[in-house]
Amino acid sequence: MLDTTALNQQRNFFDGHAEIWLFGYGSLIWKADFAYLERRPAYIHGWERRFWQGSHDHRGTPEAPGRVATLIRAPGAVCHGMAYRITPEVLAPLDVREKNGYLREKVPLTFVDDNGDAIKQSEGLIYLASQDNPAFLGDAPLTDIAWQIANAHGPSGPNRDYLINLAKALRELGAKDAHIFALEQQLERF
Ligand code: SIN
Repeated sequence: MLDTTALNQQRNFFDGHAEIWLFGYGSLIWKADFAYLERRPAYIHGWERRFWQGSHDHRGTPEAPGRVATLIRAPGAVCHGMAYRITPEVLAPLDVREKNGYLREKVPLTFVDDNGDAIKQSEGLIYLASQDNPAFLGDAPLTDIAWQIANAHGPSGPNRDYLINLAKALRELGAKDAHIFALEQQLERF
């Protein structure tokens, strides 16, 4: 199976920084099982969240992969999530968690206040599973994606929980995401 851990350890975009802003858009929004100093709702520009990445290690198996979130370039789009201020040593365990195709990338973040208004900007780090990684599954009819999510299970639990938890976390953030909410609705059928 794919393992991007070693590759990510070469991707030191924030070398010499005592603190880094990590932006989570998938499970990193609702499953923060790492130490952080502070967290704030934020968004990134030019990206859309999609359940197009295969999960062979967390929410599925190599034989029956699940589907998890990645980002697709979409000029003009905004993707809401959660930013965490972390120290650099937190990246090592995150590299392991995200090893099935995700690579560290540097992106501009915009923080938002309780009303959703932009308050400040900063450079941040994301884990991105791009279309050329071997675990990338890509687009499929929404019902097929929902069916796959409804039926996949992995060491981290049912794939269904990943989608339900993400949709709930996005509602709590006041974020709109048509793809995620439509998938959540489809999931109820299975
Ligand atoms: C993220 O949450 O930011 C990356 C994808 C994931 O771990 O679900």
